[in-house]
Amino acid sequence: MRFLVLLGAPGAGKGTQAMILAQRLGLPHVATGELFRAAVRAGTALGREAQQYMERGELVPDAITVDMLLERIDRPDAGEGVILDGFPRSRTQAEALEAALLERGMAVDRALLVDVPAEDLVGRLSGRWVCRLAGHPYHVISNPPRIPGICDVDGSALEQREDDRPEVVRARLARQLAPMQSVVEYYRARGVLRTVDGRQPIDDVTRDLIAAVETVRPGA
Ligand code: AP5
Repeated sequence: MRFLVLLGAPGAGKGTQAMILAQRLGLPHVATGELFRAAVRAGTALGREAQQYMERGELVPDAITVDMLLERIDRPDAGEGVILDGFPRSRTQAEALEAALLERGMAVDRALLVDVPAEDLVGRLSGRWVCRLAGHPYHVISNPPRIPGICDVDGSALEQREDDRPEVVRARLARQLAPMQSVVEYYRARGVLRTVDGRQPIDDVTRDLIAAVETVRPGA
């Protein structure tokens, strides 16, 4: 059982790394942002509610987010562990996760902070393209697809995310960095935080993340 949390500012590279780690470690990748975007596409009540916050660059309220996340990690594919991407995003979410895992006899093994300075984030988000089918992320300069406009992994078309428009990016960075820092401190206090330099090339970030989780033994 391995329960890993990926932390980082918007655009730090959590999604990029979570997809690679999920393959390498054989664990499901659970991203609350992707769960919300899927709900928006499906037009559910949850999606309609979440969309109002996402398009303003705000965090979706904790109660909605926690319920959605706990329902997801109770599914059978999460039985051997999970890589959480984009959750927890507030101290309340971190406390709710800890309590829920305790009830299930588990705990967060590692919280992995992908650390990127604020001045790099706007360029990462404004140059990002994601695939329509699964959200695989690309970047016009640092991580281009082999064929322009087409996902290397599944062949679907690439598009820009609604919340990567400049005014929403500014709001996301203004509103979400402080709560993220409170979650970093939460896991630092519990001794499970490891920080990786997210300014490195993607493969080097992956190498450092793998090194940081290798000390967590499955089943420990
Ligand atoms: P979410 O989807 O989680 O967005 P985010 O946290 O803002 O993170 P991003 O997906 O924008 O960035 P990332 O860190 O995954 O970076 P990526 O790998 O794509 O959330 C969206 C919204 O949903 C939130 O704003 C909120 O409203 C809501 N929400 C979600 N979870 C919530 C929660 N728990 N509570 C409340 N609300 C919630 O990389 C970015 C770019 O950089 C890409 O172009 C990539 O190719 C490139 N890149 C990646 N790594 C590198 C590298 N090492 N060097 C150079 N370029 C790189």
